[in-house]
Amino acid sequence: MPLDILLGLQWGDEGKGKIIDVIAPQYEIVARYQGGPNAGHTVYYQNQKFVLHQIPSGVFHPHIQCVIGNGVVLNPLLLKQEVETLIAHGCNIQEKLFLSDSAHLILPTHVYLDNLEEQNRGSAAIGSTKRGIGPAYQDKIARKGLRLGDCLQNSFEKKFLQACKIHNDILKKSGHPTASEAECQAYLEAINELKKYPIIDTSAYLIAALKKNKFILAEGAQGFGLDIDHGSYPYVTSSNTSAGGACTGLGVPPGAIRKVIGISKAYATRVGNGPFPTEQNNSIGDVLRKRGQEYGATTGRPRRCGWLDLVALQRAIDINGVTEIIFTKLDVLQNLEEILVAIAYQEIPYSFTEKALSSSPQPVYIQFHSWQKNDLDDPHLSFFLQEIEKRIGIPISYVSIGPEREQILSYNYF
Ligand code: IMP
Repeated sequence: MPLDILLGLQWGDEGKGKIIDVIAPQYEIVARYQGGPNAGHTVYYQNQKFVLHQIPSGVFHPHIQCVIGNGVVLNPLLLKQEVETLIAHGCNIQEKLFLSDSAHLILPTHVYLDNLEEQNRGSAAIGSTKRGIGPAYQDKIARKGLRLGDCLQNSFEKKFLQACKIHNDILKKSGHPTASEAECQAYLEAINELKKYPIIDTSAYLIAALKKNKFILAEGAQGFGLDIDHGSYPYVTSSNTSAGGACTGLGVPPGAIRKVIGISKAYATRVGNGPFPTEQNNSIGDVLRKRGQEYGATTGRPRRCGWLDLVALQRAIDINGVTEIIFTKLDVLQNLEEILVAIAYQEIPYSFTEKALSSSPQPVYIQFHSWQKNDLDDPHLSFFLQEIEKRIGIPISYVSIGPEREQILSYNYF
């Protein structure tokens, strides 16, 4: 059965939106499996930049159906805004969006709770996007969350207001601002609007599609380094960003997986706090940030920048069973004085799972010449790619050399 998974292998922002947009013609369905509006997937359509937060990145292709799966936490207000923006730009979303009845809801009060929790962490703050992701998943795991399918019941408004009251009471006790009645009302109106779209058992929908041999792409959000189980806990997001998360977050069988496509930048970035062994908190980092426009697509925060880390990348490839890799933003490294890539850490063995990874390891680097042309004919660029491919042991299928759809080179496509 033809299910491919596409996920980020670093700490998010690998350029997944653009890549999905480019490879989408091969698929009939693109389905988001985890995370929520903390994501910001940038796609260019008709010369305009769009940052998709909850809607799958294949949306601009007329033939693609978009599914928001059960593993996602959904903010109806933000989704309504996103849908309206797309419609205003001529994207015919009405007939192609399918929402899981089991996706948990981010309530207006979850956003306030996220702010409060982050404030309470003080100097150990995670650097959350404060979109209510953590508190919504907490309620899911505590078995008291509200799901999108609940809005189809008459009792929904009562349950929703009760849940908001419980959250607002917690906020009040801490002297924190609470969600207002007007906000709750606007939320109810937004959720009513979303009833226009099919709110269904998307797992059954996807399995039926797989049985008809329809090609499905599962779209990961954030990146493997932020996985709740395998990332640098507690500096992580609250979901399984890994390939395994696609099966639980969509309700599809592992046996359906054909390819796991990993995306990595040719260097590394991270937003928010947490360990980053190859970080360049210096003029090199500044150059990468400036050239790569490394500012958060959701929050606008400057991203921390550093060199590609093959130790972390190899771990991501192994745990996710990545079958091919796509490198993005090669153009950012063009004409640099030198390019470094970490191939080991001095501390061996190094535990990625040690709580908070308080001691940052010392990377061992190898050096590459930069290239003058973003072209596979350039000997320095082709040497860089061959060397990386040899070390990670899986094929590179494409390299991306700019934000536009056309700025992609087919490397090893088979
Ligand atoms: P949260 O998921 O908003 O609570 O954020 C937890 C951590 O994940 C923080 O370090 C965020 O900066 C990071 N994060 C969340 N979503 C994204 C994303 O889409 N790209 C990059 N980092 C993210």
